[in-house]
Amino acid sequence: MLLNDKVADREVPPMLKPYMPETRHIMNHVRDVVHYKLLVLLAMSLELPEKDVLSSHLPGACSSEYYRFVSYGSVQSGYAPLTEEEKVKSRGLFMPGHADWGTFSILFSQSIAALQVLDYQTGSFKWVQHVPYALVVNIGQGLEVLTGGLYKATIHRVVTPPADQASKLRVGLFYFSRANDDHIMLPMAGSPVLKRLGLDKPLDPDNTFTATEFLEAKKHGYMKPDFDHDKPKGENHVDMFRADDRYEVAKPLVSYEIKA
Ligand SMILES: [Fe+2]
Repeated sequence: MLLNDKVADREVPPMLKPYMPETRHIMNHVRDVVHYKLLVLLAMSLELPEKDVLSSHLPGACSSEYYRFVSYGSVQSGYAPLTEEEKVKSRGLFMPGHADWGTFSILFSQSIAALQVLDYQTGSFKWVQHVPYALVVNIGQGLEVLTGGLYKATIHRVVTPPADQASKLRVGLFYFSRANDDHIMLPMAGSPVLKRLGLDKPLDPDNTFTATEFLEAKKHGYMKPDFDHDKPKGENHVDMFRADDRYEVAKPLVSYEIKA
């Protein structure tokens, strides 16, 4: 559900429905406390004043930040484990390899083996080990752009669980943060760290987007990474917030790939 758009509320997984007040409370904590601290840490790591980073992610200034509550399973059978036919069709993947589009993605560690991340060094996916009560934080492509590539986007996928967990239902609770709608998606200005590392230059010198334009461009394939070997050609990553065409593509798209 989009945080700034009441109309876009989506149906939540049935098992969460009775617990939505508590769930919202926890997710608001993730957003207002955990995410805030991540932004402060980001500022520290870039040797920037906190305000420079915090002001780029002001509460209410991003129309596309959102929570997502997902049951990974068969939609046809009420989120039960996948049928054999669905397993074949999905090639063992609940979600093929991809990178998220925003700044941070924050989710709860799951006791069901499913999430894997790509090791940039070896080019292979690795399991994300479950740590009870822990949060998993993924870096999105937006943050990669904002840091000139210093923080690479987390490439990840969700596979169907191993046989001994196949009957369990995996429910994901996510918060996706994004920069202010009008924030210019360039390396954070004035960072001594980015300057020292030579990462203070745009990743894509030919296009300068606002966060809104960047998101819209992403929806049309911009910066689509080339790692997606397990995804059939022609399919596009679908972002789950409401695609209501509020934004228009402001600039021509270019071909762009993340280099490992
Ligand atoms: Fe993702």
